[in-house]
Amino acid sequence: MSTVGIDQIGVYTPAQYIETTELAKRRQVDPNKYTIGIGQNQMAVPNPTTDIVSMGANAARTFLSKVDVSQIGLLVVGTESGIDQSKASALFIKSILNLPNQLRAFEVKEACFGATAGVMMAQDYVKTHPGKTALVIASDISRYGLNTGGEVTQGAGAVAMLISEKPRIVEFLPESASYSDDVNDFWRPNYSETAFVDGKYSTEKYLEFFTHTFDDYLKQTQLKVTDFAALTYHLPFTKMGIKAQRLALENQDEATKTRLTAQFEASSKYCRQIGNLYTGSLYLSLVSLLHQGNLNSGDLIGFYSYGSGSVAEFFAGRLVAGYQNEIATNHMQDFLASRQKLSIDEYEAIYTECGKVKTDDYELTPEAVISDGEVYFAGVKDHLRQYKVKG
Ligand code: HMG
Repeated sequence: MSTVGIDQIGVYTPAQYIETTELAKRRQVDPNKYTIGIGQNQMAVPNPTTDIVSMGANAARTFLSKVDVSQIGLLVVGTESGIDQSKASALFIKSILNLPNQLRAFEVKEACFGATAGVMMAQDYVKTHPGKTALVIASDISRYGLNTGGEVTQGAGAVAMLISEKPRIVEFLPESASYSDDVNDFWRPNYSETAFVDGKYSTEKYLEFFTHTFDDYLKQTQLKVTDFAALTYHLPFTKMGIKAQRLALENQDEATKTRLTAQFEASSKYCRQIGNLYTGSLYLSLVSLLHQGNLNSGDLIGFYSYGSGSVAEFFAGRLVAGYQNEIATNHMQDFLASRQKLSIDEYEAIYTECGKVKTDDYELTPEAVISDGEVYFAGVKDHLRQYKVKG
């Protein structure tokens, strides 16, 4: 049977951030609640030239020169920060990236699960279209509002993945375990710029769905917890993954607990520095693990995807020999260290500006761009969003 999996993976996240200890001070909260209780140290802040299209295109551009673009036959964008009720963000991205017209391009929504839905479709597509590849992009801006319970669990960014036969990074195992139910833990009505959330309930559901899918997966595959080199999770904030991992490690011996806990810390490092990417969050955990973890080719990695509303899926993959050559380990760490720190006043001003609903034409010039990506949102003309590439 042919192997299918992640051939390339790239991340984009904004070049500005805040320290959560400073946010805690302003909100009159003990900083330990944010850094230890919730487990977030920094939070990425997008500016008005950043949206899901620019972030998604920038994430894909990190590896596009290494792949045969003419073979990409499917482009799926998973997002819950849509920029249009009708036209898919995938079409704007197709145009920016100069992808072929012989392409099936669309957008998928189911909260944070959207990109995993794309990854699953991409695997089926690649298996039934020999020689073709699929580009899956997860791109989101997480907004709960200033001075809300969810504020410290915001973030922004995109992860792009090329799914192919004979992948160079991760080969997926064929099995997976899904679980869905109609749950009101998190949603965003059309008239609202920010999400409505019942935080404690969403946590309960995330954990309940983890147990359903993980147990089902182990039953289906006959695998044991000890077979995994690492477990990765959708990480809205790092404490959430710690809670899921606690469930996975119940009744395991000390050596397994120590080993998987160390890998969890590696996989959650970027989340601590960036925040919740919504659809991209699970895949950011994978990138963090690949960059920071202690792994070998052949190692088995578990993936837990959760999207409020709610849909969850557990699946797994093995690291391919030579995967280290495909990931730019140092670039991400250097970039995170070089981001511009914002004061809480600056963050609040940018946040408010980004949340304004504008119905008239306007233009954003390259001087407004603060990003290490070259694609930016340049404003609106005749009700159409404009994107440009910095020269
Ligand atoms: P909260 O009410 O601000 O915090 O809500 P809390 O009182 O529950 O405290 C949080 C933790 O900090 C607790 O630890 C406290 O004990 C601890 P826990 O019991 O959880 O282990 N704590 C302290 N620790 C050290 N020193 C201190 C201190 N004080 C308290 N001084 C909440 C927190 C995360 C619920 C809120 O931020 C929120 O609503 N966030 C958004 C919802 C969310 O992210 N839910 C996650 C599951 S749902 C999901 O993943 C889907 C999602 O990504 C959306 C999608 O699918 O699209 C959200």
